[in-house]
Amino acid sequence: MIKGFAVAAVLGSVLWAMSVEAQNTSFNNTLMPQPALITVKSGGLALTPQFTVAHYQDWRLDGAVRRFAARLKFQTALPIAAPPDASTPPTLIITVDGPGEAIQGPDENESYSLEVTPSGVRLHAATVVGAMRGLETLLQLVQPSGSGFILPAVSIQDAPRFRWRGLMIDVSRHFQPIDVIKRTLDGMAAVKLNVFHWHLSDDQGFRIESKVFPKLTDMGSDGLFYTQDQAREIVAYARERGIRVVPEFDIPGHALSWMVGYPELASGTGADYGGPYQIEREYGIFDPVMDPTRDSTYKFLDKFIGEMAEIFPDPYMHVGGDENNGVQWKANPRIQEFAKKHNLNDTAALQTYFNQQLLPILKKHGKRMIGWDEIFAPGLSKDAVIESWRGFESLAASAKAGYEGILAQPYYLDHIDSAERHYLADPVPVGTSLTPEEQARILGGEACMWSEHVSPRSIDSRIWPRTAAIAERLWSPQSVNNVDDMYRRLWVESLRLEAVGLTQLSAEDVGLRQLAGTAQIEALRVLASVLQPVGFDERYEMQHTSQLTPMDHLIDAVRPDPPSRHGMQVLVKAYLANHDQVARAELAAMFELWIAAGPKAQALMAAAPLLQDPAPRAQQLADLGAAGLEALQYLEKHEAAPAGWAQAKLAVIDQAAKPVGLVRFTVLEPLRDLVKAAGGE
Ligand code: ACM
Repeated sequence: MIKGFAVAAVLGSVLWAMSVEAQNTSFNNTLMPQPALITVKSGGLALTPQFTVAHYQDWRLDGAVRRFAARLKFQTALPIAAPPDASTPPTLIITVDGPGEAIQGPDENESYSLEVTPSGVRLHAATVVGAMRGLETLLQLVQPSGSGFILPAVSIQDAPRFRWRGLMIDVSRHFQPIDVIKRTLDGMAAVKLNVFHWHLSDDQGFRIESKVFPKLTDMGSDGLFYTQDQAREIVAYARERGIRVVPEFDIPGHALSWMVGYPELASGTGADYGGPYQIEREYGIFDPVMDPTRDSTYKFLDKFIGEMAEIFPDPYMHVGGDENNGVQWKANPRIQEFAKKHNLNDTAALQTYFNQQLLPILKKHGKRMIGWDEIFAPGLSKDAVIESWRGFESLAASAKAGYEGILAQPYYLDHIDSAERHYLADPVPVGTSLTPEEQARILGGEACMWSEHVSPRSIDSRIWPRTAAIAERLWSPQSVNNVDDMYRRLWVESLRLEAVGLTQLSAEDVGLRQLAGTAQIEALRVLASVLQPVGFDERYEMQHTSQLTPMDHLIDAVRPDPPSRHGMQVLVKAYLANHDQVARAELAAMFELWIAAGPKAQALMAAAPLLQDPAPRAQQLADLGAAGLEALQYLEKHEAAPAGWAQAKLAVIDQAAKPVGLVRFTVLEPLRDLVKAAGGE
């Protein structure tokens, strides 16, 4: 039975629904992530201006329904009518068994069922969090039909495959303001992610206020940090969306920013412990590391963790633990003597000693430890969770040794890989050697947004929409793995994510306008549509990036894995395999567009100081268009290209493959196939 059930006068009526069995309602499945089980029925529910909702009474669900209504209104432009009268049956009935965990953990029940029929919608969930997941699915079901919108008749039974579906954001290398975090949480909720892992401290900045240790931010943050009130606001905002916030304080290494104000934490020798320390501007691995031998280190951490535990209610606290090179430990005779006395033979053993002191502190403050691979060493308590940035093998090894773990590395967004590559990386791959019991220890995964190369303006396009593909990998059944279908839905999801406030598409135009100094950027848009940023390592090496490197160049405006990359592959494949004439026409139109845009883009770039480095891309665009068009012409005429033609065009492609101006073309491989085919290969 429905408990605490009331017609939602709070919402008023938003949209009203009417049954439309007769209407053409062929279902266009754009759901992302795909549900565990979906049955498509005939007909649907037409949305009209008097949609009413009755729901289980709960403050979080009130908010979720209000947001649902606002987004539905935005999506359909249907006006909000007066509140429903008691005689009108509700269109959407949400029943929930209970509010869910008081403090959400990995075991929260997120399952739900959704029945859309021509006469109404029923959403049922065990918890409010499950109901929120179902509301997101419902919004994704809305589709155009004639001059209006419908909800197609479907029956959905859904539950996540993995319990831990996260997104990590590093706010140390580059601080990300509260607004960025909030819109990111909205995007996460839209694709059913449930953990926001907040990497709050690293060598390059300490980003949360401590009242106990004020010098952490006074001296270690450049004034860029969250107040405790702001952090609480984020925790509440996330909870309202069924998202946990796991804070990370990366120790004992990657902790230089702590030592700027508190050098006594460091392991260096001399009066100032190897300091004085400055906020690190460069990127990489640095020597300063906390001193594991002193009681004062643990007293400090006890107070600090206690303070943070009051702000972050999640059962887990992430202690980092990665990339400690041990240099300061090895260079300090007192620490070496301590290590010898305690039979700690190497850096890993000494770090495990540090973790062993840390565990009871975390426990005392009600937290379980999570850390990167490096904490996985002999002697570590089985209570700790391992986050693997070293990949499957490392994760599998810790699962075999009895530890719970989550997978991170194949989901590193800063590497600028394709959504496809992330999508096909499974935390428990088919054919895994893990036993069912060991597999159950793999809790899930996290997309990771390391922020060396992202600013508040570019971060959305680095996270989205690729993270939606990762979210599907972590939520949907393993058998949902068709890449073409993922991309088809991903581009739809990307539009929906902009509707919740993200800027991953619009930011490209904003960037191009700023770079070109004009609003007439059509030719640049054509060029940008086939470019993407170079990968992390390439950028780092070519630009020698640091925290001080400006991020307002073409590389920062263009998007990773834009639609052209996969789209061009599909078109060329269809044309070469089946002589598909629709594909041919699309390719020809695209090549003509490049040929026309090249000289115009060249003129714009010549006049723009910040577009000098990538300027050769404009001529290359026109040359690539010409190569493609000529290839199509030879292939259509079934005429072999003249001797030397293919070699000359392949040389053009090879030239274009170089990472000029920190950007790469997305279309070269299929273009190469086309040219080779025209050349008779
Ligand atoms: C890491 O990438 N060092 C966690």
